Amino acid sequence: MKTPGRIKISELLQRKETGQEVTVKGWVRTKRGNKNVAFVALNDGSTVNNIQLVFDLQNSFSEEQLKEVTTGACLCATGQLAQSQGSGQPIEIQAKIIELYGAANPETYPLQKKGHTLEFLREIAHLRPRTNTFGAVLRIRHAMAFAIHKYFNDNGFYYFHTPIITASDAEGAGAMFQVTTLEAGSPPRAEGGAIDYSQDFFGKHTSLTVSGQLEGELGAMALGQIYTFGPTFRAENSNTPRHLAEFWMIEPEMAFYEIKENMDLAEDFIKYLIQYALDSCMDDLKFLNNLYDKELIERLQSVCSAEFVRLDYTEGVKILEASGEKFEFPVHWGIDLQSEHERYLVEKHFKKPVILTSYPKDIKAFYMKQNEDGKTVRAMDVLFPKIGEIIGGSQREESFDKLKARIDELKMDESTLWWYLDTRRFGAAPHSGFGLGFERLLLFVTGMGNIRDVIPFPRTPRSAEF
Ligand code: 4AD
Ligand code: MG
Repeated sequence: MKTPGRIKISELLQRKETGQEVTVKGWVRTKRGNKNVAFVALNDGSTVNNIQLVFDLQNSFSEEQLKEVTTGACLCATGQLAQSQGSGQPIEIQAKIIELYGAANPETYPLQKKGHTLEFLREIAHLRPRTNTFGAVLRIRHAMAFAIHKYFNDNGFYYFHTPIITASDAEGAGAMFQVTTLEAGSPPRAEGGAIDYSQDFFGKHTSLTVSGQLEGELGAMALGQIYTFGPTFRAENSNTPRHLAEFWMIEPEMAFYEIKENMDLAEDFIKYLIQYALDSCMDDLKFLNNLYDKELIERLQSVCSAEFVRLDYTEGVKILEASGEKFEFPVHWGIDLQSEHERYLVEKHFKKPVILTSYPKDIKAFYMKQNEDGKTVRAMDVLFPKIGEIIGGSQREESFDKLKARIDELKMDESTLWWYLDTRRFGAAPHSGFGLGFERLLLFVTGMGNIRDVIPFPRTPRSAEF
């Protein structure tokens, strides 16, 4: 379908021929010039690159006519495409007609100059998509979402929608946000004083989901291989550059996969996504590479061609203990690895991504398949340079008896899990899956340093303005 009434700047900049009349629409990035001529750099979001509009102030336009053409204003311009005289761009538009859609008062429009800090831009999250940086990040975000659906569709996985509101808090992945319509100040009380959730909207206590996995497993037990891709919510108070309270997760779940095949899929999937970014987003990657992270493109290429290391947790801990490194959190068998440990293994020791497996069962979720040793489970975390954990997954425990015993051991509320246990009661199958944090992937692919800068409207402790 053609874009009505205009040509996109991304398409225009591909054109080899000049001379034809074109119409573009977009937002003014900069205006400069002198008495005779004005140059306006226009951006319409289709590419990080701008088109230059040239206004002849001697014959065609008055300065008065261009008074409101200032940084941030939105306009439509028609003119002749020409080879550019200047060195900054190959082509430009000799403007003939201009219509101003919306002015942006230079006294009050916050994005006047280049080089705003990322911290400042977070305070104006409603306007920051108009910067080159966020344009690039958001286009890459789109491309990655598309590539995820393409990868799974091409490989015979079904997109399976799992609920956002859930009555089970079974994952144990983190604190949950409650969902309720009860009056906060005066909720109904049961005998003994506890809040009576039977009078709540769903007739029970409900929360926002921390993961679609448990419902995803129900899908895999019918459709064979599914994936979820939706928002998930965790109410931990972790104010780090890698945690959000609302983030998007991709969770494939496969019947008949054991841990080895699960690892193969995770490695193939993430390499595919990174290669897709290299193939489809090079203008934006180059921009980010030049501005923020000079090794970005090289790092992406190196991960695509690396064979990921596969290593038992126990071996990983031995390497860390022998490293002589001073870690903030000391290492010994049984600890939940911190990102400093994960990054040591990936960045210093192996110098490539690592898939760590067979974790102690006490630091992992109840549903993971128990190993023969009685101490470890078939978990797998994929660890990446600069990020640490980017994927967490496992083979699932398919034995009803073992799963039930673990649920009892952990004193979990079985009444919210009966439907999950049914997958082990009826037609149980060996199966596996994993979760990729979408924003962690984007941190890696864009080279940005803070997870708040790879999602349009970040939700973090004490921050939910826009
Ligand atoms: O390791 P997690 O907690 O695993 C699960 O939720 C499983 N149910 C996945 C599965 O097996 N289907 O989370 C998976 C990934 C992490 O590796 C990380 O990339 C991301 O989700 N993640 C977060 N990303 C941003 N902010 C947070 N607070 C995150 N917590 C986890
Ligand atoms: Mg994890």
